[in-house]
Amino acid sequence: MDEIKFYYGENIPLELHKVRVVQKLHLVPIERRLAALEEGGYNTFRLSTNDVFLDMLTDSGTNAMSDNQLAAMMQADDAYAGSQSFARLQKAVEDVLGKKYYLPVHQGRAAENILSNAYIKKGSLIPMNYHFTTTMAHITQYGGKIAELLYDEGYVIESTHPFKGNMNIDKLEEIIKIHGAKNIPFIRMEASTNLIGGQPFSIQNLRDVRTVADKYKIRLVLDASLLGENAYLVHLREEEFKETSLGDIIKIMTDLSDIVYFSARKLSSSRGGGICTNDLDIYREMEALVPLFEGYLTYGGISVREIESMAVGLYETLDETMIRQSPDFIAYLVDSLLNHNVPMVTPAGVLGAHVNAMKVCEHIPQNQYPAGALAAALFLISGVRGMERGTVSNQRDEYGNETLADMELVRLAVPRRVFTLSQIKYVADRMAWLYENRKLIGGLRFVYEPPVLRFFMGGLEPVSDWPQKLIAKFKEDFGESL
Ligand SMILES: Cc1ncc(COP(=O)(O)O)c(C=O)c1O
Repeated sequence: MDEIKFYYGENIPLELHKVRVVQKLHLVPIERRLAALEEGGYNTFRLSTNDVFLDMLTDSGTNAMSDNQLAAMMQADDAYAGSQSFARLQKAVEDVLGKKYYLPVHQGRAAENILSNAYIKKGSLIPMNYHFTTTMAHITQYGGKIAELLYDEGYVIESTHPFKGNMNIDKLEEIIKIHGAKNIPFIRMEASTNLIGGQPFSIQNLRDVRTVADKYKIRLVLDASLLGENAYLVHLREEEFKETSLGDIIKIMTDLSDIVYFSARKLSSSRGGGICTNDLDIYREMEALVPLFEGYLTYGGISVREIESMAVGLYETLDETMIRQSPDFIAYLVDSLLNHNVPMVTPAGVLGAHVNAMKVCEHIPQNQYPAGALAAALFLISGVRGMERGTVSNQRDEYGNETLADMELVRLAVPRRVFTLSQIKYVADRMAWLYENRKLIGGLRFVYEPPVLRFFMGGLEPVSDWPQKLIAKFKEDFGESL
């Protein structure tokens, strides 16, 4: 991939797009940010963007769309059945992902619902490199269990390993032997493993998983929500693919998988999602579930306008200048924070920069949710909204016990082509200040805890008056600055 050097040696990522539509942001005073936290139960999901300055909650549905995506929306063919827009999307799926049978769904978790409905029953076990929140919730709702099979290095937060998302092949065979292949309807590989910091797997690892899947005749399912980014990191980090195009890398990965599903909110910077395969029997096993849960087979709950933008977005996934923008900005943010000694997930991954809250807030016990507290504290002192990815995002076990997360992370998502470099510098500045003042941050406790996916709607409160102490220190250092 082409590099752009600065004559005076500065090492910064350069935007290869121009901004033509803008949206005003609100940087409200710290007192309003405190009130917003209180109203939102110290849960960053429950904040209004009226109070948020930089929205780094997620890249899901928040990536900037291209002019061509928006233009394509104008040619939408609004038909309940047999729409030409759907035919264009089907072709894009086949061209980019190499699968000829495609089932549309309204977003990624809807694909998980259909897959789980079709294949999971009580006693099923799904081996995976690592879980994603919605994936696990669907599998357990249908009576299944998951087995996470990362290598030990996947759990090492500060590491130099290029492929922390790899699946442990020995453990995979071991678990199949113990549990029995007949109870394992599929093996799931997640591209750019989200919850461990957007960390990729290598193609060699996927080949090895495929070999085991073939040996025991188990389907291999690829969660391709972050496939473009995984392909980009394969290109950068896996020797064999240094000269291979993104499009070819993507095809190699999808060819190795029996079923590919995705959230188009991520993959193609649109809305929607899908499940695709080259196996007609597999397609038929799920076909009837789409009209049942989503909508007719040629729209699947997605607006036809979004179907058009999704088709264009899928082709744009093959454009290096588009796909590398977010990982390159993330790498810059991670480096800036490391320079201020802030503990981060390394190597820098995709979708966001991930702060190691377990270390930043080592004085906060895990059952007082250090990552949730850090996310709330960062919003308070900066208006930057990150996401807790730790114990709050975990679900209780079948007996109702709290399950402590392997990692306590605050994710600062960097959606594609949304932020400028000065905004990224602001985030680094405020996070570095917060790190220096970390001892002022205290824990949280639940006051409202929903039984499923509690992190979305749950409400918490601080265990002490630490937010007020943090505000006092902020005022001391920043005066009247917002
Ligand atoms: C890896 C992965 N799988 C599935 C999903 C669920 O997708 P959606 O949010 O579109 O339902 C996500 C969403 O963030 C994801 O990151």
